[in-house]
Amino acid sequence: MTRADIEAAVHVLRAGGVVAFPTETVYGLGADALNPAAVERIFAIKGRPAHHPLIVHLADAAQLPHWARDIPKDAHILAGHFWPGPLTLILKRTPQVPDCVTGGQDTVGLRVPGHPVALALLRAFGGGIAAPSANRFGRVSPTTAAHVHAELGNDVDMILDGGPCRVGLESTIVSLVGERPVILRPGAITAGQIEELLEVKIDELSDVETPRAPGMLKMHYAPRTPLRLVLAAQWGQELARQVAQGKHSAVLSTIPENSAVPKATAYFLMPADPEGYAHRLYAALREADHAGCDVILVAEPPPGEDWLAIRDRLTRAAAGSDETGT
Ligand code: TXA
Ligand code: MG
Repeated sequence: MTRADIEAAVHVLRAGGVVAFPTETVYGLGADALNPAAVERIFAIKGRPAHHPLIVHLADAAQLPHWARDIPKDAHILAGHFWPGPLTLILKRTPQVPDCVTGGQDTVGLRVPGHPVALALLRAFGGGIAAPSANRFGRVSPTTAAHVHAELGNDVDMILDGGPCRVGLESTIVSLVGERPVILRPGAITAGQIEELLEVKIDELSDVETPRAPGMLKMHYAPRTPLRLVLAAQWGQELARQVAQGKHSAVLSTIPENSAVPKATAYFLMPADPEGYAHRLYAALREADHAGCDVILVAEPPPGEDWLAIRDRLTRAAAGSDETGT
């Protein structure tokens, strides 16, 4: 990654093009947030419904007043503490923010990403970059440039390679437009951390059934191979059931493979800590998806806030993966 790459990417953005770029969470598919035609291209490439709003990425919290109005004190506190970092704030928008970015809503999602390449790009570009995750709609987010290339190939004008994403799961989304902060999507920054900083109680997200941001459909983040979450107690039984049906399984588990696991199983040993697990998860799901198996069995991660974002994505992947295998 050179200065020339960044300049070339800025040139593409200014010309209304689309650039995939790394962030610390996942790779984004970026366009000039003030250019509706460029933003429309993101929707076309992703196959994303037009009413799903995009996050606007900024170089610096000092740019907030261009994009948001009536900014509450909590927003400044959160931005001051967590930016650059994996936190998106939902705020009331200014009139300059195009409808195609906000899905026609009166609010806008904003974040300063914590990745040197993203920040170099944003600083050189100067404006806001609207960017969803750089995957086809409903599929697993990319955490390497190779994932973006495999998924979107030549549909994008340029891919900036910043190596594997450190966090590996999409940002925590906090809405600050109501009376109290609400978490719309769990991520690496937890409700507990936000509560501590703001000294306010945030309603606990009851795992996955809570109403979410538009776009937070149950079917998000899904591989093509059927994915099933399996409780520790049902683990042996489930594997045996698959074998009895003549099916090959891919397995994601934090427990090392033992002799009871059938030979033909594609076994992915996952890190036992939530940061390590999150970092590895989407790459492992992609690899499992390409292992030619009939089903992906995932050992249910432990309870607790540190694992909430991982449980959220896995539950969605289980709901969205195609049981018929078509
Ligand atoms: O980590 C991330 O947030 C990554 C990187 C690229 O920054 N981006 C990402 O974007 O995950 P996307 O589009 O895949 O997910 C953004 C989510 C969507 O679920 C969308 O509904 C929500 O943010 N969102 C955006 N603007 C919103 C708004 N004004 N109100 C409520 N939700 C909003
Ligand atoms: Mg996404």
